[in-house]
Amino acid sequence: MLERPLIAGWQCAVCGESVDIAQPFSWRCPRASDDDRHHSLQLLQSISPLRSSGDANPFLAFRPYLAVDAFMGAHGLTDAARAAMIGELDTLVAAVEGRGFVTTPFERADALSDALEFGADGGVWVKDETHNVAGSHKARHLFTILLHLRAAEFCGLAPWATAADRPPLAIASCGNAAIAASTLAAAVSWPIRVFVPSSPNLHVTKRLGELGAQVVECPRLPSDPPGDPCVHRFREAVAAGAVPFSVQGPENAWCLDGGRTIGWEMARHMEETIVGPPFDRLFVQVGGGAFAASVAAGFRMSGITPRLHAVQTEACAPLERAWTRALELGGPKGAAAHWAECMWPWEHVGTSAADGILDDETYDWLPVLAAMADGNGSPVVVSEAQVLEANEVGCRLTGIDASHTGTAGLAGLLALRESVVGGSVAPDERVAVIFSGIRR
Ligand SMILES: Cc1ncc(COP(=O)(O)O)c(C=O)c1O
Ligand SMILES: [Zn+2]
Repeated sequence: MLERPLIAGWQCAVCGESVDIAQPFSWRCPRASDDDRHHSLQLLQSISPLRSSGDANPFLAFRPYLAVDAFMGAHGLTDAARAAMIGELDTLVAAVEGRGFVTTPFERADALSDALEFGADGGVWVKDETHNVAGSHKARHLFTILLHLRAAEFCGLAPWATAADRPPLAIASCGNAAIAASTLAAAVSWPIRVFVPSSPNLHVTKRLGELGAQVVECPRLPSDPPGDPCVHRFREAVAAGAVPFSVQGPENAWCLDGGRTIGWEMARHMEETIVGPPFDRLFVQVGGGAFAASVAAGFRMSGITPRLHAVQTEACAPLERAWTRALELGGPKGAAAHWAECMWPWEHVGTSAADGILDDETYDWLPVLAAMADGNGSPVVVSEAQVLEANEVGCRLTGIDASHTGTAGLAGLLALRESVVGGSVAPDERVAVIFSGIRR
């Protein structure tokens, strides 16, 4: 009999407030407000051996480790009923997408490893998320929010009477997250409002329209405070009752639950199939930070803590600035007490082909900082030339058709090899990267 991982609930890394796992719609820290968004709910979970049931669907394979599974259990659903909730939702997603969630490929990239002069014992392993639901890793984060909503409805916890009275979902994005959110919403015919910039990517908005999303263009209004107008409109919608269907932990902590499946898949794959020492380094591209926070949390639950390198571009690197500030202020462990002094919007966001990681603020900076500190990692800031080179080399030598955002983690490896200060990736080191999104 497997020992069950104990999920007690959430605790805010900033104010210490706790939230029981049974609490429905616990999207944000209860002490967060519109004027004080500096809160960061993290899962409180005992470490236990990470085992997979062997199911191809990661949400079924690792179900006992999911917070949403504990939520369903706390409301009396049996194991069989919980598995059925996941299976049914996945079937609905597959009906829209043509495929449901499956464990994505993760292999040593031999030609790439040779080109980067790794030895036979070392190398680069690439996790390929380009054929995940909606073409990126983003749907993993959103699946657990949707599952929470569906389970709450099923258990009679929702304040709305019928499906027709459901509050809309809301997201501010014009990229992979918007497509993932609209795909999942379409699967259950849940209305969704997607807040996009005033000159949106028409390729993306076309797809959003096909998926039945309501696309809301957000020009800057004269009355707007500084910051992204899409985020302002998103927050107004949430204040008016919409569900934050967001891939930013401070807006909806439940996105951090499902994102861990990537880390779990990688850690299990390594234990099961790779002979020899575990990974030395993990390079993860960072925009809002939920991705890196979740991957690192997933790895940590397996007992492995590779050195995490959070990768940003020169065009926008608020996380590296926060790391440096935190070191000056007594170290990353105490950073939660210094949010305003460490993390604020990047003043002049430049352009980059890796446009999915140009978030002016790293919303989930606290867990990413903690993960880097735990594993002796560090942030890496890459040049645009390295962003371009990583995509060219990475795609050509693996045959994976990833976007520049998707290959930006590899740019971090190129940068570290070339840097005089930290540039000591030994040929026998094992390095993992995630090609997180398809070229569109
Ligand atoms: C393909 C891809 N990879 C990585 C990221 C970065 O994820 P996060 O914003 O959670 O740091 C994004 C975000 O848009 C993305 O689209
Ligand atoms: Zn709090």
